[in-house]
Parts: sequence; structure tokens; C-alpha cells
Amino acid sequence: MTTLAILTAAGSGTRLGRALPKALVELGGSPLVLHAARRLAASGAVDRIVVTAPPGLAAAVSDVVTADAHVTCPVRVVDGGATRQASVAAGLALAAPEDDVVLVHDAARPLASPELVRRVVAAVRAGHPAVVPGLPVTDTIKRVSPALASRAPAARPAPPGLVVERVVDTPDRALLRAVQTPQGFDRALLERAHAAGAARAAVEDLAATDDAGLVEALGEPVHVVAGEESAMKITTEPDLALARLLLEERP
Ligand code: CTP
Ligand code: MG
Repeated sequence: MTTLAILTAAGSGTRLGRALPKALVELGGSPLVLHAARRLAASGAVDRIVVTAPPGLAAAVSDVVTADAHVTCPVRVVDGGATRQASVAAGLALAAPEDDVVLVHDAARPLASPELVRRVVAAVRAGHPAVVPGLPVTDTIKRVSPALASRAPAARPAPPGLVVERVVDTPDRALLRAVQTPQGFDRALLERAHAAGAARAAVEDLAATDDAGLVEALGEPVHVVAGEESAMKITTEPDLALARLLLEERP
């Protein structure tokens, strides 16, 4: 009974817009992927880590993560795929027979705490085969249908660049959760979910943005545990600025 963590770090970070892939961008002097690996190891709930690396950068990622004294569990680095889903599948292929629980965590969430890692693993080991951390949402969320936008004729021609979408409905905010990583799974269930969704993995528009989505597509239950603000995702420069503040508060 061991826990494998797949740490996804193979993305290019297009929306961050740096020369380096996002996982190698520094926060407080350390690359994002190293922050994430240290916290996974510090949880004490992870036995091994497999990191997915951007094309051509497996050696560079390996140097960063395996040489660090705080990453106290064994680490392997594998080339990622064209989408996050494909990268996770590449990591999952390296699971050992004894790994009965698999966590999937994004290097783009470098400050997810060891406590959060432990909470997710504990919920899986308590009998929930698919577990995601989630936070209540503070914005009111509208569902829109871009397809409906063009149906209603506009009174006047729209100014160039103005996109108008039709609102379909407003889900009850009390029932919404913004989900984070690490997400935790019974290993056999995650393998089944990736196998069933494999046809989606090659194309960004079709690929799953999280692994729980693949489990939901199987019709299997997914459970939510409390997430945390520090597990925020770094997508753009303002996110990195917020992460810097959070890191100063809680090094
Ligand atoms: N990821 C990955 N393999 C890919 C794409 C993404 O392992 N082919 C990882 C990223 O490294 C990141 C996580 O999945 O840790 C979440 O992806 P995202 O935040 O979208 O990161 P990027 O794809 O790097 O960013 P962008 O979409 O702005 O290019
Ligand atoms: Mg991406």
C-alpha cells in the first residue's frame, strides 16, 4: 500500500508568457515545480513522485527536483504529452504494482500545503475512490451558450472585438466548488478513467482539464474535501504576485 504522486509540470505556460516553461519559473528563489515537490514530500503521505517534464527538459527538471534536500522521497522524471491529460497518462504508466493510491498535482499550484496533501490521501484511504479539494466560489457564476449568441439579431452591428454571449442560467452558488489539486484516486479507478478517455488526450480542446472529470465521465462518484487558498493556481502574472505574498506570509 503506497502512494504515488504524479506532479504535472510539462506545460509551456503560454498565459504566463515567460521565456521559461511555467514549472521552471521561480517564486521566492525556487522553481514552482520544486515548491510543489517539497510540499508533497513534506506531507509524509507520498512514497514516490513522478514529474512530467516539458519537451527536451527532463534532465533540467530532474536536476532541480532530485538534487534538493527537502525532496525526501524518490523522484522520477518522464516526458509529458501534448495535453495535461496525456502528461498524467505518461506518469501513470510508471506506477508501481504496490501503488494503490495515486495523487495528481499541478506544479502550477506550488503552495498547496502538506496538510492538504494529507487530507486528500486520508479521504481516499477512508474509502472514497476519487477525491478533489474544493473551495466555495465567491463570484456569481453564469452558464453561457456561445451558440445562442448569434441567433438573436443585434439591433445594430456590434463594434469590432465586442463578444456578446447569451446567459443560459445561474447555478445556485451554494452548490458550486472551485476545485484544486492534489486530486487523489484509487489507482485502478484512475487507470480505468484514463483508458476510457484516452481518445480525448491528444487535442487540447477535447482533453480533460482535471482527472476527476475523467472519473465522472465513467459515472463513478467523486467527493470533495476542503481546499485552501494557498493551493491557488498560477496562470498569469497577477497570480504569481499573489503567490509571492502568500509565500511571505507562510514560508
Ligand atoms: N501540464 C502538463 N502537460 C501539458 C500541459 C500542462 O503536465 N501538456 C501541466 C502544467 O505544467 C501545469 C498543469 O498541467 O502544472 C496545469 O496546466 P496549466 O495551468 O494550463 O499550465 P500550462 O499548460 O503550462 O499553461 P498555459 O495553459 O497557460 O500554457
Ligand atoms: Mg494549459
